[in-house]
Amino acid sequence: MRPLAEALRSRGVVVCVGPGGVGKTTLAAALALQGAALGRNSLVCTIDPARRLASALGLAELGNLARPISAAELRAADIRLAAPVEAMMLDMKQSWDELIARSAPPQQRDRILANRFYQSLSSALAGSQEYIALEKLWELHASGKHQLVVLDTPPTAHARDFLDAPARVIDFLGTDTAKWLLKPALRGAKLGFRLVGLGGNLISRTLSGIVGGQTLADLAAFLLAMSSLNDEFQERARAVSALLASEETVVVLVTGPAAERREEAVRFHQSLLEQHLNVAAVVVNQVHAGVGPEEAAASTRLPEPLRGKLERTISEANSLAQADAHGVRVLREAVAPTPLLTVPRFPGEVHDLGALWRAGAYLVADATPRETLAAAAAAPGA
Ligand SMILES: Nc1ncnc2c1ncn2[C@@H]1O[C@H](COP(=O)(O)OP(=O)(O)OP(=O)(O)O)[C@@H](O)[C@H]1O
Ligand SMILES: [Mg+2]
Repeated sequence: MRPLAEALRSRGVVVCVGPGGVGKTTLAAALALQGAALGRNSLVCTIDPARRLASALGLAELGNLARPISAAELRAADIRLAAPVEAMMLDMKQSWDELIARSAPPQQRDRILANRFYQSLSSALAGSQEYIALEKLWELHASGKHQLVVLDTPPTAHARDFLDAPARVIDFLGTDTAKWLLKPALRGAKLGFRLVGLGGNLISRTLSGIVGGQTLADLAAFLLAMSSLNDEFQERARAVSALLASEETVVVLVTGPAAERREEAVRFHQSLLEQHLNVAAVVVNQVHAGVGPEEAAASTRLPEPLRGKLERTISEANSLAQADAHGVRVLREAVAPTPLLTVPRFPGEVHDLGALWRAGAYLVADATPRETLAAAAAAPGA
């Protein structure tokens, strides 16, 4: 059985990671559909999906609400599932608000929610987007409503940026800076001024690195309000880390076939392994398929100049396919023994349920689908 089919059948969490624009959101949705086809009650949690993809999934707005993908739409696309499938769009701001509302004592809650620093937290605090996505994942998984949760992630150039987020929250909260700031003895109106007054010393330099343009006074007020949450946060961040590292979770690294993506993918893969994560597969998406000999033969029946034009197009397509097939071979060796799967580049975008289904089939099918065979046929020495 293909490694991802195995993961979809047996694991509780699949996290799709990778650089920008490679197809993480698309393949996360495709995997949830395949999970449901394999009989698992599935959920895909998307981040910032393209509008047409969101509408195909039945998602009109953000709001952390999971909604069933319409049974009628699935039938219309001839997709038969053995279990229900739901989709949601992660709302970062709402997730942070919910986290604060859940963890803060009532008297601190409003103070935190109204704080200017808190309000720009998602952009100001390094890794907070990543952190909240993982935190939401933990919550979705813990709720036990779905047997399989597929998490899409924000684009990250480095695997560490994403999967390290809980560890960084723990690290930051454990630093002397944070402890010093959060020490209840320091509570008081003067703290903000004292911080600002510290000028160029280590603490304020560390802090400016973290908060960017925000004023230290705002940050001080925020951290004071948050001090009551420190233990809660650390505990939760540890639980999130533990879920990621557990047998329940697998990571799928999505990348593209272009040569410049290759080194990046190898580094990304290496860093996932260093973090002891279970990498189920590297998926090279949007691989140029090339034109098989049967299809190419059709051009011989055409009159000139059509025939010449078509032959040039076919030859260009086959050069692209050969370059991609070479890249895939090199990458496959570099990431071995992690399995590498390919998904061809479809004509047009992958925005409807039918296309999502076809893309997903490449990740779980036992037989090599036709497009991949065509690419292999076009490759030299294949
Ligand atoms: N196999 C494919 N063939 C053709 N188009 C594809 C394929 N996979 C994805 N796409 C298209 O590529 C675009 C980017 O895909 P997607 O949004 O899933 O990438 P992403 O990695 O989530 O991007 P971001 O990092 O910006 O979140 C979309 O328009 C999608 O329809
Ligand atoms: Mg995306």
